[in-house]
Amino acid sequence: MKNTTWSGRFNKQMDTEVLEFSQSLSVDIVLYETDIAVTIAHIEMLFKCGHIKKNECVKIISGLKKVLKQAETGRLKWNIAFEDVHMNIENALVKIIGDLGKKIHLGRSRNDLVATDLRIYLREFVDIYLSKLREIQVVLAHMSKEHSKSLFPGYTHLQVAQPVTFGHHLLAWCEMLYRDELRLLSFRKLLNIMPLGSAALSGTSLKIDREFVAKKLGFDSVTNNSMDAVSDRDFVCDFAYANSMIMMHLSRISEELVLWMSPQINLVSLDESFCTGSSIMPQKKNPDVPELIRGKTGSVYGALIGMLTLMKGLPLTYNRDMQEDKSMIFESVDTTLSCLALMPRLISTLKLNSKNAELVASSSFSNATDLAEYLSKKGMAFREAHHIVGKIVKLCEKKSVDILELSLADLQKYSSMIDADIFDIIRPEMCIASREGDGGTSPKSVVKKANAILRRLRK
Ligand code: ARG
Repeated sequence: MKNTTWSGRFNKQMDTEVLEFSQSLSVDIVLYETDIAVTIAHIEMLFKCGHIKKNECVKIISGLKKVLKQAETGRLKWNIAFEDVHMNIENALVKIIGDLGKKIHLGRSRNDLVATDLRIYLREFVDIYLSKLREIQVVLAHMSKEHSKSLFPGYTHLQVAQPVTFGHHLLAWCEMLYRDELRLLSFRKLLNIMPLGSAALSGTSLKIDREFVAKKLGFDSVTNNSMDAVSDRDFVCDFAYANSMIMMHLSRISEELVLWMSPQINLVSLDESFCTGSSIMPQKKNPDVPELIRGKTGSVYGALIGMLTLMKGLPLTYNRDMQEDKSMIFESVDTTLSCLALMPRLISTLKLNSKNAELVASSSFSNATDLAEYLSKKGMAFREAHHIVGKIVKLCEKKSVDILELSLADLQKYSSMIDADIFDIIRPEMCIASREGDGGTSPKSVVKKANAILRRLRK
């Protein structure tokens, strides 16, 4: 198939296999709407700056709108002979309005065009992500209010450490996602700068108005250096990193769900609609959705390493290697978004197994720190209190009882500072209620934080 884009300089036609190999249409076809919007803004600017006539501008824009219609209705005959989405659109336009269509490439190159398209396309996903992340935070905040008093085991080293409230744990997830939101917002600023006008690499000899185009396309500003602009894919790496961080968070959440659902742990149950059975073991209810989220994290990390590796050896400016950026980032975005989209329902169908959660939260001497703090508040040095409580725990282990099951006399053998009020103070409910400080696990603090989150998200 003959590609006429550069055929002026060539005697031979492109090898068919090479064409198949080098085309990017199969991947960048999704950019068609963005590409047309960018071209329309560019044409308006060319007219404004006197490079094309009014009637030419009108004809080209109406032609481009027709191309868009064709693409949307499946009537556009995409052809890999034209290599990529940009050349396909130009050729479709020429078919509709004739040679005038060939003027659209004046003062630009595919190098600045593709960088511009990709920034806009990814920017739209950033906005979708932001709303998804906020949706999950709203679900978590509401749920944490419902569970502001629900006892839950807090772990370190996967050993029960101290009682917390389930609401507090949910708000911890919320914080991770809030950081993801902030990360996206900050990288959106770097993303939202327009490369168009950099042309192939050195700018153009035409007098153009880049600010005008940038404004039309919703960019905050224009890039500073044409060479950097056409060869910069930092924004793709940033997105791949933001995706990796989101997936890392979703994967940790998933890991906890898988763990909590294990019959031996049995802290929560997940709705049946999010689980699957086994083809051989009739009794099984498996947490496949969180497992898949955890699993999909691998390929999202892959895109980050892939992008960094793709870019690391590239001399300025554009190199064809960079065409590979799209397949990596598109797949990474698809995967991350599909996981984000499932989260609100996955989380809201969670059921806390309160009885067992209370039992586990109260087990393993989870109130030992509170006893040590009790003694410290009465003036004992914390290290000494720690030592004494350690001995009390040793006794409990020997007797196979809980601290609360010891008698006052037993306890006082270790310290005369211990009074009868201890039996109230180190009840798990009191352990959590006393952690009232900012960011603590007390029901009061949880409700306060959840309300602040909901206020921030105005829901
Ligand atoms: N399809 C190309 C890409 O995605 C567009 C830019 C082509 N530029 C070039 N000099 N061949 O990177």
